[in-house]
Parts: sequence; C-alpha cells; structure tokens
Amino acid sequence: MSKTVELIIDGKHYTFPVVEGTENELAIDISTLRDTTGYITLDLGYKNTGATKSAITFLDGEKGILHYRGYPIEELAEKSTFLEVAYLLIFGELPTKSQYEKFTDDITKRTLVHEDIKKILDGFPSNSHPMGVLSSLFCAQTAFYPESLNPNRPPDGVYLSIIRSLGKMPTFAAWSYKNAMGHPVNYPDNKLDYCSRFLKMMFALPGQDYEVDPVVARALDQLLILHADHEQNCSTSTVRIVGSSKASIYSAISAGINALWGPLHGGANQEVIIMLENIRKDGGNITKWIDKAKDKNDPFRLMGFGHRVYKNFDPRAKIIKKAADDVLNKLGINDPVLEIAMKLEEVALKDSYFVERKLYPNVDFYSGIIYRALGIPVDMFTVMFAMGRLPGWIAQWKEMRDQNEPIGRPRQIYIGHKKRAYVPIEQRQ
Ligand code: ACO
Repeated sequence: MSKTVELIIDGKHYTFPVVEGTENELAIDISTLRDTTGYITLDLGYKNTGATKSAITFLDGEKGILHYRGYPIEELAEKSTFLEVAYLLIFGELPTKSQYEKFTDDITKRTLVHEDIKKILDGFPSNSHPMGVLSSLFCAQTAFYPESLNPNRPPDGVYLSIIRSLGKMPTFAAWSYKNAMGHPVNYPDNKLDYCSRFLKMMFALPGQDYEVDPVVARALDQLLILHADHEQNCSTSTVRIVGSSKASIYSAISAGINALWGPLHGGANQEVIIMLENIRKDGGNITKWIDKAKDKNDPFRLMGFGHRVYKNFDPRAKIIKKAADDVLNKLGINDPVLEIAMKLEEVALKDSYFVERKLYPNVDFYSGIIYRALGIPVDMFTVMFAMGRLPGWIAQWKEMRDQNEPIGRPRQIYIGHKKRAYVPIEQRQ
C-alpha cells in the first residue's frame, strides 16, 4: 500500500499521499491542501518545497552525491566532454557516435551571430558588467528569431532554439569581454572545438597569432561539465518559472543569467577571488578573517563556503581543488591566493562555527583560482558559470515544457494593513 501522511487541523483529519523518488527521497504531495483545508504552506526560500518532479539531476547534500541522468559527476568530469554532457542532460541519454557528431556539427554551424548584434554591443558602455551584456544579448535573440515566441513550436523548432543557444553562447560571452576591453570582436573559428573556439574569441588580438593551449581548453571543458546542472537552484528555478508562462526560451535563459549574477549564487566565485586578494593584501592573517566571518555584527561572510543543500562536502569542490592544483602545476603558475585558499579551508574546517553549521567549500571556492590561471578576468567568472550552466537550464526548460507544467505562481501570507479609507493629501499629517 502506498504511504500517506495525516494532518490534523482543529480535530479534523486530512490525508495526503507521499511521493517517493527513484533514489528514495520522500515528499508529501500537498497539491490539494488549500482546496481541502483552506491552508497554504509557508516556506521562505523554498527550503522544504519540491517545485517539480525531475529526471535530470540527482543530488544528495548529506552524502555529497551529484549525478546527471544517473551518471556520477566524477566519472563525467574525467571521461566525458562538455557537449556530450549537454546532450545527456537535454535529451536524457549519452549520444551514440553519430548523434554526437550531428549535435556538435549542428552547434558549430550556429556559432555566428547576426551582424546587428554588434550594433547592440556598441551601445553598451565599456565598463558594463559582462553578465548584464550577456543576458541582454541572449534575450535579444527573441528579436532575431521571433518564431521562438510561439509557445506551440514544433519539436524541430525547439531543437533549433536549443542548438542556437549552445552555439551562440560562447560568442556572446567572448564579445561581452571584448566590449569591456574596448577591443574589436573576434569571429568564431569553427575548425576548433567548443572551448578552444571560445578561448580564441576571448584572447586573440588583431595581427597576432593565437594558439589555444590544450591544457587550458581541457581544464575549461571540465569546469563547464561541473557547472552544467544542479537541479532546482535559484537560476534554474527562475528559468523554469519564466518558461512556465510560455515566454521564449531565450527570455527564460536570459532571466536565469540574471539570477545567477547575484553574489549569493554564481557571483560568489568572483567574490572569492576578491576576498582572497583582500586577505593577501591585508598580510594574510587567516584567523582575523575567520573571526570576521563568525562575527554576527560584521556583514562579511566567507565567500565560497556553505551551500543550501551540501551539508558535508560539495563533490564538485573536491574535483575542482585537484584540478586547480593540476592546472597550476601544468602551466607552471605559482598563485599566492591558492595558498591562502588552502590555509583558509584548513582553518575553517577545524573551527566549531563552521563545523556546527556544516559549512564546507563549495564549487566556487576553487573555480576562480583556475579561471585566473587560464587568464580569465574576475568580471568574467560568472559568465563562465553561465556558459557551463546553459545545458542544465535548457534541459530543465525542456522538461518543464514536455511535462506541460502549470504556470509557477506561489502564494503568500499577507502581513500588511487591513482595509482602510483613503485620506486626501491635504488632510494627511
Ligand atoms: N560565512 C559565514 N557564515 C556563514 C556562511 C559563510 N559563508 N554561510 C552560512 N553561514 C552561517 C549563517 O550566518 C547562518 O548562521 P546562524 O545559523 O548562526 O544564523 C548559518 O551559517 C546558516 O546559513 P544560511 O544563510 O541560513 O544558509 P543558506 O542555506 O540559506 O545559505 C549560502 C547558503 C547562501 C550559500 C550561504 O552559505 C552563503 O551565503 N555562502 C557564501 C556565498 C557563496 O559561497 N555562495 C555560493 C553558493 S554555491 C552556488 O551558488 C554555485
């Protein structure tokens, strides 16, 4: 017999079904709660609320497990490529050789963006943050591909939007950087793979040869895999909720980019480097900064520490810590902030404040160090995250549409004034 849960309100008994996931996670299905009892649930930050049933990503925060479509992140990071992972997330299975070739070929043919995009880019001041530029250019696709506004697009139209999104993202990302540098943009070199193409668009300068270092391209590919999906986080929920109104995929993803921008979400990797630099400039006194993070009267938080769901360790942080070490060794870079990061981690992990609150390094703690080693400037870190997260946003958007989910519309408990009469301005005190 399937499990149920009983709720007693004022002596009246109500029964709700229990839903069990593939990995035995349990939920109480309260979809009839308001109709049957008149009550709603209150859950600030949705800490206990399941917003959907999803078959894309499984994570267990207590055990530090992360699977994409059943495959452990450790295995994918080691053996797969970013575009193969993108295919897996979006379509549910690892591609066959011919599916993979078609997918990469389709994407490669769509790396070029409309020349008028350059006019939009020209309108941005060069000190614009690249995330604002990226989200604007992404949303501007609705103007170049107005058919994407059709909420009932046939599957081949949806496929086209998906590969256009993946194809053009690195071009937009690199151009947002070129705008910040005041440099002319580079066009995509379609002889190169996804990450090498992006690196060349970022770093090639007019009149100079630019050879992509394969170590750098592989490290970037691995970082993108680690960021590719993370189930119902802030930006992904944003993509699903915007998409649930049947807005275009481009506007839904643009909204996701904006959500990711915040310092408590994807913006944290930028904040980590700024924090580590500040600690270094301040003389490297780790204890002083740990104490600041613990002081409730000080707004400072240890950036790159803590996670809404990982309460033992973040499996991505483990892979990234090793990758940071490898990349710096291979490139022969000696970055003093890596040493500060490692010391900070060591001290924090022994400190009862962090232990009791289950605060561990998250994916962002070491990713910024790798980005720095790859020559990517701090302002671009969140853009890199967005590039990595794109397949996850697409997969979640597609799943939400395929499941024909209703428009996202939470409720609230109103705590404002009760009804009162309007007072004309002359009579107001
Ligand atoms: N430094 C110091 N104290 C912290 C930190 C931190 N980084 N993170 C949490 N805490 C403390 C809180 O002050 C709180 O203490 P209290 O119980 O005494 O009030 C307790 O730990 C619980 O913290 P919450 O903010 O309630 O945890 P929540 O799950 O809401 O937040 C978050 C998670 C936002 C990631 C938080 O840990 C944080 O701000 N970390 C720093 C920013 C960061 O690294 N963000 C990246 C997240 S990963 C990602 O988006 C890819």
